[in-house]
Amino acid sequence: MTRQERIVYQSHTTLLPDAEVIGSAIDDIVESARRNNERHGLTGALVFSDGMFMQVLEGPAPAVDMAMARIQEDKRHKDIRILRRETIDSRMFPDKPLAFVSAATIREAVMGSGKGFSMDICRLPPDIFAPLLRSLVVPAAMSASSAIKRSA
Ligand SMILES: Cc1cc2nc3c(=O)[nH]c(=O)nc-3n(C[C@H](O)[C@H](O)[C@H](O)COP(=O)(O)O)c2cc1C
Repeated sequence: MTRQERIVYQSHTTLLPDAEVIGSAIDDIVESARRNNERHGLTGALVFSDGMFMQVLEGPAPAVDMAMARIQEDKRHKDIRILRRETIDSRMFPDKPLAFVSAATIREAVMGSGKGFSMDICRLPPDIFAPLLRSLVVPAAMSASSAIKRSA
C-alpha cells in the first residue's frame, strides 16, 4: 500500500489586507483545493488568521508531494514553512477534502467567552494545532478542551 503522509505548514498571505479581497480569494482557494484534493485522495484543513495560513494536508505521499508543489507555486502566499511532516497510519480528517476553520471558531474553542486574551493561532505548535482543528471539524473526535489538555 502507498505510504500515507501528513504535512503541516504555515505561510504569509501576499493579498491586500482587505477583508473582501481576502475573503473572496480564500473562497477560490478552498473551492479549487477541494476539487483537486478529492481527485487525489487528499484530506485536511485550512485556517487563515492575522495574515497567515496554516494548513494540514494528508494522504498518499506522492499526492501530498504534488499538491505541495502546486501550493508552493501559488502567488497568493509566500514564506511557506513546513512545521511537520510525518508518516501516518490513519487520517485526522477522513472525508474532509479541505475543511476551512475560521480563526474565530478556534479562539472561541480555546478561550471560550474569555475576554482580554489575545491568541496567536499561528504560533500554536503543530501537535496541538492539528488535533485542535480535528476536534472542531470531525464530529466524533474528542472535544477541543481535551485535545488541548492532552497536548499540554
Ligand atoms: C493557502 C493555500 C492552500 C492551498 N491548498 C491547496 C490544497 O490543499 N490542494 C490543492 O490542490 N491546492 C491548494 N491550493 C491551491 C493551489 O495553490 C493551486 O491554486 C490549485 O491547486 C490550482 O488548481 P486548479 O488549476 O485546478 O485551479 C492552495 C493555495 C493556497 C494559497
